[in-house]
Amino acid sequence: MSEIIKNIKGTKDILGNESNLWQYIESEIHSFMKLYGYDEIRTPKFENSSLFNRSIGQDTDIVSKEMYSWKDQGGNNLTLKPEVTASVVRAFIQHNLGKRNPLNKLYYIDSLFRRERPQKGRYRQFEQFGVEAIGSENPEQDAEIISLAYNFYSKIGIKDLKLKINSIGSKNSREEYKKSLKSFLKPHLDKLTSVSQKRFNNNPLRILDTKVQTEIEIIKKAPRIIDYLSQVDKKHFKKVLFYLDSMEIKYEIDHYLVRGLDYYCKTVFEIQSNDLGSQSALCGGGRYDYLIEELGGKKTPAIGFAAGIERLILAMNYDDNRFNKSTDIFIVTIGEDAISMGLKISDSIRLNTKLAVTCDMLRRSLKSQMKEANKLNAKYSIIIGEDELQANKVIIKDMNSGVQKNVHFDKINLFFK
Ligand code: HAM
Repeated sequence: MSEIIKNIKGTKDILGNESNLWQYIESEIHSFMKLYGYDEIRTPKFENSSLFNRSIGQDTDIVSKEMYSWKDQGGNNLTLKPEVTASVVRAFIQHNLGKRNPLNKLYYIDSLFRRERPQKGRYRQFEQFGVEAIGSENPEQDAEIISLAYNFYSKIGIKDLKLKINSIGSKNSREEYKKSLKSFLKPHLDKLTSVSQKRFNNNPLRILDTKVQTEIEIIKKAPRIIDYLSQVDKKHFKKVLFYLDSMEIKYEIDHYLVRGLDYYCKTVFEIQSNDLGSQSALCGGGRYDYLIEELGGKKTPAIGFAAGIERLILAMNYDDNRFNKSTDIFIVTIGEDAISMGLKISDSIRLNTKLAVTCDMLRRSLKSQMKEANKLNAKYSIIIGEDELQANKVIIKDMNSGVQKNVHFDKINLFFK
């Protein structure tokens, strides 16, 4: 017997009812984004590796060890997208979107690839939806993006949301802070993990969001970035919080929230859910006012966030039955002659009424076909047997009340209208 080939670790097949749940979530995302006036953008699944090296940052986990990269037959260095922001920015610059609109409000649903250690809520292929607002430097834009994320989760029924927010300032304030953080950490260097020791030189801010308890204890006494913000940055952050207050969105200022990608500045945020365990971040985002210029575009301020859909599903606690497979009408055919009539009637109903129709394809007994109709929660069944064919009629049965009616072939669509 040949060996069975299985899926790759950290990826999954989405089957049956779960697939209905995904369709529901995706359609909720599309309609929600319309409410906020965001347009969909679709970018390729792979890009030149340099796009991610230059935007996410060489010293980040993603670029240093998690990207699926390869050289193709033409010698090009390519990478499966580990996140979408860089691709959106590339498209923004390439298509000169800034010239068409002073503010580009874009959203996406996409598959991403990161070679992380798989666990609950963490996969090697995962789905994100996200938004990017490119063109406004104003704090109201930050507040709109954060409220969009928060309101989406509330609308889809996730409770116990925790919004964490921080400002990591613009470049200058951050450089000052880095110096101060390094001189605070220097005497503790031998107590830090090897990962943090490496970060000490390249990216000391990332040490702040350590998950190691001994490091958390040290960090508690570290200087806070908020005290190093310029007046302009401070004013911006205050205004963001003011707008959130006025929208009655609860938040917690987390002085150690820095995020794992290098392109951020000023406002950064995450929404967490207690239901998720160690991978508690439902979504994360922030400002990236320098990225467009760094990738060769005109200096343009921007902010966005992205949300993992698998984590959203884990936090949803949905009723399993809600996404069961279903149909409106089940067509029961008895005998070979009834089959062609069944096919004809089912197509006619589908095209004229838009009701979902399922036809038996297994030539089962009447009893098994009725059982299947019940399993699919059909509202009606249409029964076609020898006698019905002779009389040019079908039996339409209301599956709830059990009431049956004889209906002429020509009147079936009318019955369902
Ligand atoms: P991120 O924090 O890397 O940010 O990812 C955003 C969200 O994607 C996470 O909060 C999580 O829900 C989900 N996620 C990330 N990695 C995995 C994984 N391995 N398995 C399952 N879910 C995962 C970004 O991607 C930025 N591009 C967000 C952004 C947009 N910032 C500005 N605009």
